[in-house]
Parts: sequence; C-alpha cells; structure tokens
Amino acid sequence: MITISMFGKWVLKIPDRYMDGSAMSNELGSLSPFIRSIILRPDLVAIDTYCYKRIVEYCKGAQSVAEYFAGVGIMTLLAEEILHPKFHWISDYSDDCVAFLQDVLCTKYANINCEKRDAFNMQPYQVHSYDLISLDCNMSYGKLVNDPRYRSLVSMTVKKCPKFIHMSDKAAAYFHVNKSKYTKHFGFNVDSIEDYLVGLSLCFRDFGYHISYAIGYKTASHILLTKGIAGSFDFEWVDRADDVDIFSS
Ligand SMILES: C[S@@+](CC[C@H](N)C(=O)[O-])C[C@H]1O[C@@H](n2cnc3c(N)ncnc32)[C@H](O)[C@@H]1O
Repeated sequence: MITISMFGKWVLKIPDRYMDGSAMSNELGSLSPFIRSIILRPDLVAIDTYCYKRIVEYCKGAQSVAEYFAGVGIMTLLAEEILHPKFHWISDYSDDCVAFLQDVLCTKYANINCEKRDAFNMQPYQVHSYDLISLDCNMSYGKLVNDPRYRSLVSMTVKKCPKFIHMSDKAAAYFHVNKSKYTKHFGFNVDSIEDYLVGLSLCFRDFGYHISYAIGYKTASHILLTKGIAGSFDFEWVDRADDVDIFSS
C-alpha cells in the first residue's frame, strides 16, 4: 500500500492490487509508469502535488474540470476538495490508473466520470467544453512545436475555449542542454526557467492563450494558461513539499 497524505487534510491510499500485486518488490516492470514514479521518486511526486494545489487554487470559480492524464487522481482529489465542480471528467490510458480511479475516486465523488482513453487519440468531440482542462502530459517547447500529437491536443483543447488550461512542462529537466537553443528560437537571452516560460507563453499566442501563472522546481514546471495575450505572469519556485507525505507500508 502507498499512502499519499496531503497538507494534513486529504489522503489517497493505493492498495497493492493496483500495482499488479508486486507492491514494493523489485519487479517494477509491470507497473504503470506513474505508479512506478511514486515508488521511485516520492520527493518529486510530493512537489508535483504541491504544484497541483497551487494551480487548482488559481482556478477558483471553475465549475467543470477535465483531466486527460489523471494518473492516480492526486489533482482530481485537490480539484474536488478545493473547487467542488459540478462536472468532473478524468481519463488515463493506464489500466492500473483507471481501475484505481474508478474504484477509489468515482465511488467517493458522484460527479466524477472516469474512462480509459488515450489522450493523443481523441477526436475533437471527445474534448470537453469545461472551465478547467488539465493536460498533465510533460509538454515542452520542442514538443509543442515539433510533435504533431502534442500540437493537435493543444489545438483541440483551445478550440473548446476553456477558462483555464493546466499543463506540466519538462523543459527544466534538460534546461542546461537546451538553453542556447531557446535563446536562438525566442530571440532573447534565456538564462533561467522563468525566461524559458516567458518564451513559451509567447508561443501560445498562436492559440489565443498566454501563461498567467507558473510554478516550477528543478525538473519540471506546471503552467496555467488563460485566454488573451497578456505579457507577464506570476512565477513561483518550490524546492520541496514538507506538507505532503508519501510512504509505503
Ligand atoms: C504525471 S502522471 C499524471 C498525474 C496526475 N495528474 C495525478 O494527479 O495523479 C501522467 C499520467 O499520464 C498517463 N498517460 C501517459 N500517456 C498517456 C496518453 N497518451 N493518454 C492518456 N494518459 C496517458 C500516465 O499513465 C500517467 O498516469
């Protein structure tokens, strides 16, 4: 069993049966990648959990939420408890994650619908016209520009005109390798992740959105897009999340 205890208020327990019965053995190969990362890097998942909370807090007033990379529903639970949405759609392509989400979260919250779905193979009509759409898909400038799967998902999402779009971005993990490329592509000196996010925000102008809030740590960032082409945004840096505890028993 893995227990994720959040901010002294909310708890998610992942029983061994959702981990193909291998629990904390060394046979991690059959686990869904995200559940594997909870076991291997609980420190980073704790920071992500802190970031999700900050993102959700910025979406006050959102009455409907769709998450197409729902994982084990950490963000789902935070959105439920903080926003109390009327409608909440969650999907993931992992059997383990979907089984867990249906069993634990759909039975607790009657407004949640969960299905197995490959987010990169959705038809436009399958994307919801909801207030908050979360794409926790490890985006980056390179993927946005060069990968048709990511570009198409973003295009379908913005066509639904959500008030808020959340995305995770992995550029921080390889920032030192790519920063000269970002400087060249963006046409200004990119020396920090915050500079990179300024350039990324400008890329979303093509879609009619801009970054209005971002929170980052050493290997990833979470960004919140809202409509319009405004220039500046709040940026927060986080080193660790002391109030999120992840442990196995
Ligand atoms: C970072 S985790 C999401 C964590 C989640 N937001 C949470 O709060 O628990 C990314 C998830 O995306 C899922 N995933 C990866 N590729 C996918 C795809 N093409 N379609 C749907 N889900 C996908 C993985 O199974 C994983 O659970």
